[in-house]
Parts: sequence; structure tokens; C-alpha cells
Amino acid sequence: MKRIVILISGRGSNMERLIRAERQGELAQAQVVAIFANRANAQGLAHAAAANIPAFVVDHENHPDRESFDAALIAAIDRHQPDLLLLAGFMRILSAGFTRRYAGRLMNIHPSLLPAFPGLHTHRRALEAGVRLHGCTVHFVTPALDHGPIILQAAVPVLDGDDEETLAARVLREEHRIYPLAVRWFVEGRLRITGQRVEARGRQQEDALYAPCFV
Ligand code: GRF
Repeated sequence: MKRIVILISGRGSNMERLIRAERQGELAQAQVVAIFANRANAQGLAHAAAANIPAFVVDHENHPDRESFDAALIAAIDRHQPDLLLLAGFMRILSAGFTRRYAGRLMNIHPSLLPAFPGLHTHRRALEAGVRLHGCTVHFVTPALDHGPIILQAAVPVLDGDDEETLAARVLREEHRIYPLAVRWFVEGRLRITGQRVEARGRQQEDALYAPCFV
């Protein structure tokens, strides 16, 4: 059984989806063993409690710098002996030391087709840039922010008349589809990282770049 720890900062809809996926057996032999938030008011914490998953707050504001916050977070996380650590809307930049400690078992979901639009406000920037395709990316986390090896991406069209909200909703639906899939591949031992590339044994073409709006 692989032990999964999820880190959130806010709403927690990806976390919620991952918990549901675990409960429905979509993640293969995996168990979500703990949730961490860096803010006491993260809405996702209520859902974690409702799902009977131990949830903890390690508040970054109680720490003078990134290193001491990361050290406290590592100490708290390691008590749960995770095989896999999932960032799900976790809005803190992690130190290189943190990412190295969990190298190869630390994933993130990012709301753009990386390497386009790393960082914040991805939907607004996609609209401003006039791209016709947008989407989301599940990737391994490395010290280079939003530039780790890509596991899975899903594209959606940008429609005339879209605003940030409609585009974000279209992308979020895909986030909820591909994050559990990437996690299952990890749990099944199907992922191999070579440099920037991730090989996923048994990957089907339609798992990636699947844009349901075109179908
Ligand atoms: C998602 O769009 C995720 O890709 C990004 O932050 C958002 C978090 O949403 N990193 P939620 O908290 O999972 O609902």
C-alpha cells in the first residue's frame, strides 16, 4: 500500500477529487494518510476532516523564513512516511532542499500547458496571450519552479467569449481527470524519469492531450 500525503492552501477541489479516487479504488493500492495546509483557513481542511483523514496546519506565518518553514513541514510530513507527496493548490514556493528530499515522489498540478505560463494567474495570461489551446499539467517537482518532468497534460480549447472564470472551470474539470490518473500510474510503478522526460508504461495516446470539448 503506497502512502500518500496531500498539501493544500485553499479550496482543495483537487484534494477532494484525489480522496474520492482513492475511496473508489481509482488509485490502485494507495491510501491518503494525511493532509497538510499552510493556512488554518484553507477550506479544504473541512473536507479532509469529513473524510476522516488526519489534517494538520503548518502555518508559514509562524516561521521567519522559507528554510525554517520547510524544515517544520518536512518533520511533520515525515511522521506519516509518505511514498508520494502531492501538491494540490499548495501556494508556497518550496526550497531546493525540500524538493530534493522528495525527488521522484513529489508531484504538482499546474493550471496551464507547461512550459507555457508557469507561475500565477495562468488563465488570465492565456487569455491575454490569445492562445487557442490551454490546459493543465501534472509534473514531478524539482527546484526549478513549474519546470519539472511532465507526466500528463490535458488541453482544452479557449472559446470566443471566455473569461477567466469560464476558462478556469474548463481546465479544472481536466485537472480532476488527469491528477488521479497520474497518481495511479505512479502507484502502479509505471513511471520512469529520464532527464526531463517521463516514460509511462502502457500510456495511451488518448490519456494525454485529450480535449473533450472537441468530441
Ligand atoms: C488548481 O487550479 C491547481 O492547478 C492550482 O491551484 C488550483 C487549486 O485548486 N495549482 P483546488 O484548491 O485544488 O480547488
